[in-house]
Amino acid sequence: MGKWCVIVCSLLFFSPLFHGGIAVAAKAQEGSEAWGYVQVRPKAHIFWWLYKSPYRVEDPSKPWPIILWLQGGPGASGVGIGNFQEIGPLDADLKPRNSTWLLKADLLFVDNPVGTGYSFVEDEELFVKTDEEAGTDLTTVLMAIFNKDESLQKSPLYIVAESYGGKYAVTLALAALRAIEAGKLKLKLGGVALGDSWISPEDFVFSWGPLLKDVSRLDNNGCRNQTENSVAQKIKQRIEEGQYLAATNLWMDLESVIRTSSNHVDIYNFLLDSGSGSSSTTATELSKGIALRRYSRYLSSLRATPGGVGDVDFLMNGVIKKKLKIPENVTWGGQSDSVFLKLAGDFMKPRIAEVDELLAKGVNVTVYNGQLDVICATKGTEAWIEKLKWEGLSNFLAKDKTPLYCGNSRSTKGFTKSYKNLHFYWILGAGHFVPVEQPCVALNMVGVITQSPAASA
Ligand SMILES: *[C@@H]1O[C@H](CO)[C@@H](O)[C@H](O)[C@H]1NC(C)=O
Ligand SMILES: *[C@@H]1O[C@H](CO)[C@@H](O)[C@H](O)[C@H]1NC(C)=O
Ligand SMILES: *[C@@H]1O[C@H](CO)[C@@H](O)[C@H](O)[C@H]1NC(C)=O
Ligand SMILES: *[C@@H]1O[C@H](CO)[C@@H](O)[C@H](O)[C@H]1NC(C)=O
Repeated sequence: MGKWCVIVCSLLFFSPLFHGGIAVAAKAQEGSEAWGYVQVRPKAHIFWWLYKSPYRVEDPSKPWPIILWLQGGPGASGVGIGNFQEIGPLDADLKPRNSTWLLKADLLFVDNPVGTGYSFVEDEELFVKTDEEAGTDLTTVLMAIFNKDESLQKSPLYIVAESYGGKYAVTLALAALRAIEAGKLKLKLGGVALGDSWISPEDFVFSWGPLLKDVSRLDNNGCRNQTENSVAQKIKQRIEEGQYLAATNLWMDLESVIRTSSNHVDIYNFLLDSGSGSSSTTATELSKGIALRRYSRYLSSLRATPGGVGDVDFLMNGVIKKKLKIPENVTWGGQSDSVFLKLAGDFMKPRIAEVDELLAKGVNVTVYNGQLDVICATKGTEAWIEKLKWEGLSNFLAKDKTPLYCGNSRSTKGFTKSYKNLHFYWILGAGHFVPVEQPCVALNMVGVITQSPAASA
């Protein structure tokens, strides 16, 4: 293994590689795919899936990029959700997706952290408890995939994250830069993009009341209940005291207060009500990571018939599991709840300082946010941006934004502004899942972020 496929093959099938230490990085040619497991620590296995774009454009002045997509949760599968429901070549009905990000870049999906999706641990003690631990494991995965593959090393890697994935993205980027400086990792980091990312839980918690009041889902009383009173304030205190686990428990309480007082607003899109039935959660369900299940089932619940066409669970534990030759006893999503629970002590920890560190190092950081999102509301994102210590902040804030359009339509799809290496996109008409709800503008944006030679739309 580890040799290029020399015959002309449109699809490469690599069996999971379990033999000692790090898995050999499989290689693939354009329009092909490769996948495998990396044993990141003894008995802890991470699954990855790389698609080489068939749309690759050779431009001597611009290398073809690779996007590493990081899903949130914690415990939601990028290999399943990001790939089949958001940006991969096929949708959950296994039909071609015309807005796939392969049009702009190669795509690397990883079931991160261990225990997510097809990734698994053989011992309960091996789940990660912090974002940094996740970042270290992901760096090991990148070493396994990139270090032996000179052609991959020519492509800059862009880490694009959604939701909780943003916290992994910034810790990974810093860990990867350290590994690159130490000569342990051979790749070029192109940049980091944080889509509707949970970078500052406190700022999001305080955004919910005012946002939902402005859009008429709460009245003054309800708004006061969310912000001035009790729960949000208590969360802030717990965070200040470093009582992060207590803050996570309070966050669950606050979410349920929000639901009740807004008559069940959909926390991923304030124009909608949350799915009938699935929103009536009990305290026990909450403590068992229902928040995660809600997140990972969300897109399916909008589109699919459970157990039928478009059901990702069914797909990932059926034909896709078979195609990838995943070990029989590994269930996609089987350990996801534990992933969430083990990270509960880090869940409410902010990662603003890590964003600052990346900005100070000159790394391109893009932040994009869907207008209709509640859980990672634009209001909360703007609040944490204003807390950056980065020297360019005041110039960034003072700049005017530019409107975005897409295709032949002259209707405004969003706005963007940049100052030096900080870039911001407001995406209109999208909730939490930007590439799903505004695929055209998301695709153009990702072309610009990655400086893809296929970017000119
Ligand atoms: C892409 O597919 C969607 C439906 O899956 C369709 O609504 C849209 O018009 C298509 N876009 C293009 C550019 O073909
Ligand atoms: C699957 O079986 C293998 C071999 O018996 C074992 O090492 C591994 O821990 C099992 N995996 C899971 C997720 O149960
Ligand atoms: C606000 O909180 C009070 C006290 O907990 C409660 O009685 C009231 O129903 C809440 N109002 C709304 C609109 O949520
Ligand atoms: C950051 O992105 C801009 C384009 O937006 C590009 O010109 C610049 O070279 C990038 N910087 C780095 C360090 O990659």
